[in-house]
Amino acid sequence: MDFTTTKLLHGGDYNPEQWLDRPDILEKDVSMLTEAGCNVVSLGIFSWSTLEPEEGVFHFEWLEKIIQNLYEHGISTILATPSGARPKWLADKYPEVLRVDESRHRNLFGGRHNHCYTSPVYREKVALINRKLSERLGSHPGVILWHISNEYGGECHCPLCQKAFREWLKERYGTIEQLNKSWSTTFWSHTYQSFDQIESPSTRGELELHALNLDWKRFVTYQTADFIRHEIQAVRAGGSTRPVTANLMYYYDPLDYFKLAKELDIVTWDTYPSWGKKAMIETAYDNGMCHDLMRSLKRKPFFQMESCPSATNWQGVSKLKKPGVLFAQSMQAIAHGGEGALYFQIRQSQGASEKFHGAVIDHYGENDTRVFREVCRVGETLKAISELAGSEVKSQVAMIYDWDSRWAMEDSKGPRNDGLHHQEMLLKYYRAFRKQGMNVDLIDMDCSIEGYQVLVLPMTYMFKQGFAEKVRAFVEQGGVLITTYWSGIADDTDRCYLGGTPHGLMDVLGLRSTEIDGLFDWEENQFMPVDGNELGLFREYTCKYLCDLVRLDGAQALMTYGSDFYQGYPALTVNRYGKGSAWYVAADAEQVFQEDFIAKLLEHEEICGAVPGEIPEGLEVTTRETEDVRYYIYQNFGTGRVMLPLPEGETETVFGDPKQELEPYGLVVLRQRR
Ligand code: GLA
Ligand code: ZN
Repeated sequence: MDFTTTKLLHGGDYNPEQWLDRPDILEKDVSMLTEAGCNVVSLGIFSWSTLEPEEGVFHFEWLEKIIQNLYEHGISTILATPSGARPKWLADKYPEVLRVDESRHRNLFGGRHNHCYTSPVYREKVALINRKLSERLGSHPGVILWHISNEYGGECHCPLCQKAFREWLKERYGTIEQLNKSWSTTFWSHTYQSFDQIESPSTRGELELHALNLDWKRFVTYQTADFIRHEIQAVRAGGSTRPVTANLMYYYDPLDYFKLAKELDIVTWDTYPSWGKKAMIETAYDNGMCHDLMRSLKRKPFFQMESCPSATNWQGVSKLKKPGVLFAQSMQAIAHGGEGALYFQIRQSQGASEKFHGAVIDHYGENDTRVFREVCRVGETLKAISELAGSEVKSQVAMIYDWDSRWAMEDSKGPRNDGLHHQEMLLKYYRAFRKQGMNVDLIDMDCSIEGYQVLVLPMTYMFKQGFAEKVRAFVEQGGVLITTYWSGIADDTDRCYLGGTPHGLMDVLGLRSTEIDGLFDWEENQFMPVDGNELGLFREYTCKYLCDLVRLDGAQALMTYGSDFYQGYPALTVNRYGKGSAWYVAADAEQVFQEDFIAKLLEHEEICGAVPGEIPEGLEVTTRETEDVRYYIYQNFGTGRVMLPLPEGETETVFGDPKQELEPYGLVVLRQRR
């Protein structure tokens, strides 16, 4: 089921159940939402104890009244299932619903996300309330989307989950012999005689059998996805046909979002960048890359489900958003392909744990606050650029971001337990492409790589079965491949490949990785240009953390190491394969290397970005398109005003003034007809 809307969404999490005894406040909320140009709210996210105060006693009338009233005022509802936090009566009567931690202790009641995903009782109670919600409200014209639970996360080690894990393993491996082989259990005498002996990883027990750790993480994702499916089935049983989403969290490591996204009709995520901690543009790249990951999960539009209108209350330092920052953040969500920019939360709660978290309406409660005026500005602008709704971001570049590979690599006890710096390295490549005006997708190894011009394998430690063949075909047919050090090392169950690495791509890359050197934090080596190299690279760059020592077999070196016993060994190489080219970067070089390398590589391969030339420092340029139109979206995250590099051909202005210098945090949107 597709989620489509003709307008960009603006609104946020709203918890009117906290104010049912204050009709004056509820009325004020609607008038302020309208004033701020809000067209949607998320309702019911943590409302279970108001919806079902006693077992089997349901109260939906208050919620129905609110949904209806909002609808009459032009505000739609994203309706949540309440499973993110359960009522006290449920935990007291059925203790099995409470989560058990890795040390095998059962939690007490409290907090949220504190439940077992396997418990039949929890599943039954969730299914019942979801179905009833769906029957009563799931077809209301005001309800446009289901918000399934809230920020799924965590794991449970209870006996029910252990049993489900063993069944999942049995299904995956068939026999215990096969499991032992795949997990290399002969090492340290950890051989299992039967599936019944297997326990989830624990600091009190088994924690160093890497394949067990890996499969447990996979199981946690599987069981979470199964729970989501269970929730959605109940919603469907209640008769509602509205599409579903679940709000995801940044690069949340414990759950493989590519797998969860398969259960959802539209991806949404909660965006809380620490603006001000670093230069704005650095935070913008980091946040932008996550938007691109979220978009890539289904390769479809997504939206920003939550963001803070002012300061959060859970970060180390609760920084106010300076004037214009909320605007810039909201517009960035749209630029990267989002269908809306929503907030947590509409009205600040009076007590409990999030009373100081920023909101559209604060404790003072009136419309003459700085934050409320900023929210109004976002609302007006979203209306002005609403034609962007439904257009899509298309990317020429894909970078591999694969949860299995990351899990295995981070756990592997390898060349650098003091930090592999994978995420930073990814960001270095991302920035380099963005500076050339390219859109970038982040995909996992199961995604299709057809249609991209450039594919980057940044520290792609695991090559899953069939992946190398897919990459080989990509290069053969003319693709540009960039592979870095520490790629193609291990298989699906984290067993090292025999016979040389990067496994399955040595002939494509024209080399073999022989050894890898871990550097201390204070150590550096250098990339030195080879005279007359085909990209014309002429500068020296420093490199850190990991240096791969490769032996060439067909590839040519463009740069070599500057020091240590491997001085003169290749550091950057290229090999022609089929109609394409395969580049290998042997170490983690400083940012500017990636920028120079990618700029020269794209020029050499005649691959062009959205606008001619390099994007000025601080500026982001992103494109969205429909069949007839291409939009150019410019945002300034720098500290000074900047002249815009315009695309070739005629354009029309949708927002802002492309002929003036763009002020910090400013926005320009152009339209080009095909
Ligand atoms: C998350 C949750 C919200 C709220 C915010 C606070 O994103 O989904 O319920 O707790 O964090 O920033
Ligand atoms: Zn459990």
